[in-house]
Amino acid sequence: MSSPSFLQLLVVSLAIAGGIVGVCNGGKYSRDDFPTNFIFGSGTSAYQVEGAAMEDGRTPSIWDTFTHAGGAGGATGDIACDHYHKYKEDVQLMANIGLEAYRFSISWSRLIPNGRGPVSPKGLQFYNSLINELLSHGIQPHVALFNFDLPQALEDKYGGWIRRKIVKDFTVYADVCFREFGDRVQYWSTVNEPNVYALGGYDAGDTPPQRCSPPFGKVNCTRGNSSTEPYLAAHHILLAHASAVRLYREKYQEKQRGFIGLCIYAFLYIPLTDSKEDALATQRANDFLIGWFLDPLVFGEYPRIMKENAGSRIPRFTKAESKIVKGAFDFIGVNHYMAMHVGDNSSNMALEHRDYLADSATTPVDTKRLMSLEVFITPWTLEGVLKYLKEVYGNPPIFIYENGQRMLHNSSLEDTPRVKYMEAYIEGLLNALRSGSDTRGYFTWSFLDAFELLDGYKSSYGLHYVDMEDPEMKRYPKLSAHWYSDFLKGKTVGSGSKGLVSVTPKLVSFQ
Ligand SMILES: *[C@@H]1O[C@H](CO)[C@@H](O)[C@H](O)[C@H]1NC(C)=O
Ligand SMILES: *[C@@H]1O[C@H](CO)[C@@H](O)[C@H](O)[C@H]1NC(C)=O
Ligand SMILES: *[C@@H]1O[C@H](CO)[C@@H](O)[C@H](O)[C@H]1NC(C)=O
Ligand SMILES: *[C@@H]1O[C@H](CO)[C@@H](O)[C@H](O)[C@H]1NC(C)=O
Repeated sequence: MSSPSFLQLLVVSLAIAGGIVGVCNGGKYSRDDFPTNFIFGSGTSAYQVEGAAMEDGRTPSIWDTFTHAGGAGGATGDIACDHYHKYKEDVQLMANIGLEAYRFSISWSRLIPNGRGPVSPKGLQFYNSLINELLSHGIQPHVALFNFDLPQALEDKYGGWIRRKIVKDFTVYADVCFREFGDRVQYWSTVNEPNVYALGGYDAGDTPPQRCSPPFGKVNCTRGNSSTEPYLAAHHILLAHASAVRLYREKYQEKQRGFIGLCIYAFLYIPLTDSKEDALATQRANDFLIGWFLDPLVFGEYPRIMKENAGSRIPRFTKAESKIVKGAFDFIGVNHYMAMHVGDNSSNMALEHRDYLADSATTPVDTKRLMSLEVFITPWTLEGVLKYLKEVYGNPPIFIYENGQRMLHNSSLEDTPRVKYMEAYIEGLLNALRSGSDTRGYFTWSFLDAFELLDGYKSSYGLHYVDMEDPEMKRYPKLSAHWYSDFLKGKTVGSGSKGLVSVTPKLVSFQ
């Protein structure tokens, strides 16, 4: 997922953006400044690149249903980048640029059609082939089990994540993945951006499974409850995550020697003014966005403020559940793109019916910035998020699993804004490491120009352009791919270096 879609979850009346100013140190750095076991990669997700949506026994996920009903402006992932058929070529591209790791997700309904029951031999074969291809090129696979694409069958059968039954089905699915792929995959994340999934799917209702209730939904709500279901879905995600982690630890970890975690979306929240109210509002915003998942994982409970403000609408962990959830991670995945100013909105606490945002008693103010095409280059926000995680959650091991620059899908191969973004954020990351952050890896979003959730093919984040008009769907490395490759191969980069201008990519016309 990417930031602009998150925007639509949190859209409130737009206030004036405060003064975020990007500051770069202007330093030079190289791959050698990072620890040798630090890993640099890039990522995608199943629905966003695989295509082959109806092939080889795959059944629809809730994203297929959504896009076929016009949810993404008519765009679908039916073909996407056709990665299902072109994975060998894609892995070769990864090898060409010297990628050290690749993050992808498994399509649950491709591996286990309908979400439960027999495993699909073709699904198994595809992921085995992809993993083997990566390993044969020395590229480390990082695998997410769930990236928004719940099998539609499970949504239909019992309501998916709002029912406790999902914990069992998810654990069985995870078991298949560990059993079949865990001899070669050492980095597992269970759920990608559960905070975004819960808010988009159950509060705003503008992403699958599109549940919400007036007046909170950003779409016409026909079913759901924005006041309760985001908390309920998140609760079941945490229980399912913890159950999968326990299974992995008991049955696989010793033998397979891998690591497992969960991946959250994180803004850097910044107080709108220097008032005490806005400082407290910022703390609440962090507790609601990050603490929602990390407090249970680190401390065994939801943040105090969430329990106070949401009352009985946020489920409680039993003692036994709390014990299973607490400590259920080897690392935390962090997807970060940008900052967000936050103001106090305590008046919302007077509302009789509240949703997540009202419960947080905050107003995120610069949602307008999220609408803008390109993400502002503020690398210190990544440092800020990593500092926050270090100080509040005891410096857990972290993988930055998404970070990147959005541009028009059909813009030039000379994606200088993306190069500048990566150059600045990787420098910010280096600063964070030097300040003691236990970050272990960095993945750009995304390896290919993918189907962007909600945005379809209008914008993209890719290191490679995919020519959708070409029947062969030819891929073209952009300047950012060349830049990343130079960096990975040891070149000194950073503002002031001449690295940028030395590369002349082959330009094609996108007309
Ligand atoms: C919501 O429903 C109303 C009444 O049926 C309709 O007028 C309106 O256009 C709908 N809005 C959206 C965004 O679909
Ligand atoms: C949502 O659930 C709450 C708590 O059970 C209830 O008070 C409220 O009426 C429900 N809202 C809708 C729209 O069903
Ligand atoms: C507080 O939130 C309400 C409801 O979202 C909104 O109408 C109002 O403008 C917000 N007030 C401030 C000061 O942000
Ligand atoms: C890119 O797409 C936009 C919107 O569809 C269009 O206005 C623009 O002319 C296109 N640019 C190129 C270079 O094709």
